[in-house]
Amino acid sequence: MLKDTVAVELPLMDTSEGIVLFHPNIPENAVKQLKDVLESRWIGQGPKVQMFENLFDTRIAAPCKSIAVGSGTDALHLAYLLADIQPGDEVIVPVFTCTATNIPLLYIGAKIVFCDIDENLNINADAVEDLITDKTKAIVCVHYGGLPCNMDVLWELGRKYDLKIIEDAAHALGAKYRGKTIGSESDFSMFSFQAIKHITTGDGGMLTIKDEELVEKAKRLRWFGIDRLRKQKGIWENDITEIGYKYQMTDLSAALGIASLEEFDKHLEHRQRLYRKYCEQLAGADGIRIIGNEYPEREHAAWLLTAEVDNLGDFIRHLRHYGIESGQVHYRNDRYSIFGGSVKGRFDMMDRMEDRYVVLPLHSKVSEPDVEKIAGIIKRGW
Ligand SMILES: Cc1ncc(COP(=O)(O)O)c(C=O)c1O
Repeated sequence: MLKDTVAVELPLMDTSEGIVLFHPNIPENAVKQLKDVLESRWIGQGPKVQMFENLFDTRIAAPCKSIAVGSGTDALHLAYLLADIQPGDEVIVPVFTCTATNIPLLYIGAKIVFCDIDENLNINADAVEDLITDKTKAIVCVHYGGLPCNMDVLWELGRKYDLKIIEDAAHALGAKYRGKTIGSESDFSMFSFQAIKHITTGDGGMLTIKDEELVEKAKRLRWFGIDRLRKQKGIWENDITEIGYKYQMTDLSAALGIASLEEFDKHLEHRQRLYRKYCEQLAGADGIRIIGNEYPEREHAAWLLTAEVDNLGDFIRHLRHYGIESGQVHYRNDRYSIFGGSVKGRFDMMDRMEDRYVVLPLHSKVSEPDVEKIAGIIKRGW
């Protein structure tokens, strides 16, 4: 059973009622890009997917290579298979994340080892080493809301104990760590293009891979284990020796991805400007702390505006009274029955944050005056 949280269940608002928490970001060129695909011979995985991957390499992943898939969850599952995580292997993951980070590990039969979070809602990198055993195969970190984790510590542990580092960057498209884009450095990183992410392909995801030798394998696994190029050349002696699945992206989705990537710089800048505005407006305000703005070496991708607040239920109701949506988006995973359903470790920071963290509106339909208005309402008190 999930613990009751103080989060207030309110019906979703319509945009006409005020400032909503999320809104899909549809690029100007979406219809033109989609039309091209609909009028072509390919609507499934074809040339647009390849083009999207190439653009993604250039903009985000290089020197890593990008593989487009049907969802961020697919990308994680594929990463775990490519990292050779076997039944019984231990994988260290943050206790606070979307369940999508961890569900593929259950499919594999790996043992999930939860690690506490830090005050930014990211994995507490300083608590990871104590969880490593001779069965540990990988460390998964989640850049929650778009704020990069403490990668120096995690990469060092990866080297010291020969562990794969897998970055769940579903929230972190465009984030940077020490000047390098998230997705360009670790063994594996993944991104999500689900409806309300920085860019959306309806549903979709990208896996970036450091080891070039795994790229062809990744392509086979995303298509049942079949080498599609050899098959297209008419060679039917194309045995399947690895169990793949159907993780591929379609050209329809990739068309949206291409159109979104073309506008991405502008969109990212907008989000980051809103994030800074919130920080500026709420600096020193009573009862609220904006999360993640104190790290010069980390560039926040500003997917979510997360804050820690006193009296969460009253806070959410106060904002809602003025037509502003806020709320919690993800929940600690250790309480879900599929992951064991009971607390097995000490998660002091998770215990503190679970009834205090909140998300405020930050997306393409929110303006800087909107943020000023929201901050003004918050400063009146709740
Ligand atoms: C942290 C995190 N990881 C992974 C995912 C899964 O991505 P997708 O919804 O594209 O499968 C999500 C959710 O969207 C997420 O929030």
